[in-house]
Amino acid sequence: MITARAHTNIALLKYWGKKDENLILPFNDSISLTLDRFYTDTSVEFDANLVEDTITVDHQPLIGPGLKRVTRVLDLIRAKSGHNLPAKVFSSNHVPMAAGLASSSSAFAALAAAAAKASGLILSNRELSILARHGSGSASRSIFGGFVQWHAGFDNQSSYAESIQCPVDWDVNLITVLIDTKQKKVSSTIGMQSVAKTSPFFPAWVKSAQADVKPIKNAILNKNLASLGELAEQNAMRMHATTFGAIPSFTYFQPETLAILNTVRNLRKQGVECYSTVDAGPNVKIICASTDNEKVITRLAAIVGQDRLVVCKPGPGVTYL
Ligand code: DP6
Repeated sequence: MITARAHTNIALLKYWGKKDENLILPFNDSISLTLDRFYTDTSVEFDANLVEDTITVDHQPLIGPGLKRVTRVLDLIRAKSGHNLPAKVFSSNHVPMAAGLASSSSAFAALAAAAAKASGLILSNRELSILARHGSGSASRSIFGGFVQWHAGFDNQSSYAESIQCPVDWDVNLITVLIDTKQKKVSSTIGMQSVAKTSPFFPAWVKSAQADVKPIKNAILNKNLASLGELAEQNAMRMHATTFGAIPSFTYFQPETLAILNTVRNLRKQGVECYSTVDAGPNVKIICASTDNEKVITRLAAIVGQDRLVVCKPGPGVTYL
């Protein structure tokens, strides 16, 4: 039995729309930061005595679309290694699930790594990234630590993530504001499908997202927090704009999301360098230097309470336990 640990990542340049639903190929490149605080541990064992795959996530048997995705990744690994053994998978999330905190990113990265190794495969991180992508697009990035770029690519082999910077040797951290950790109503898969099909803002989103790649990468390489934060916040707002244009229109924002976004803007006016990003859920993540954490936390705690703030630093890539 092999156990792998992968950490969640938060996109600063979002993946939001698939040009190939089957292969999970995104329209545009995306760039993320892997976090130290949220992770998934997954153990995999292939066993001829089993009748079928048995998947347990957080002590519950996995059913529905989640199960299909896991089977898909396991099947690819079985095909690659030339065996057809059923797998026993045991996974535990140290993440509030499906709350826009990207639990699928860490889950499928850990699964790909553990299952590949349990099959006796020795794969590069790029190959693991490609396998993880078939479970969930964002998981392709969680194979790596620090700042990561997922190249959109044009086919299975050309769509993979790679490291931009790891370890991250400058002061950047991310404060997650847990507004609502319940399962979200519109999953990211469904949300991005809907905007790609129905939102007139979608083509503009893809164009502006692809144009963000170089500037965001440069901001990271130049360790320029203000530039990175500004570009990331713009990118996130444009992603959310696509949801308002969809038919039917929807939003991941809740009243507290807007309150936090406003507070961050006001803090900035007062000279505190902090910036927001929001994924397919109501929770806001704030990018700032750790030297500003106290100022940011004091203001946010007044809105949501201190216990709903988690300070995250850059985290590592996938490891075996
Ligand atoms: C808003 O990777 O969860 O977090 O590939 O359908 O599983 P699927 O989607 P998923 O989408 C993540 C969307 C996002 C932005 C991002 O992480 O880049």
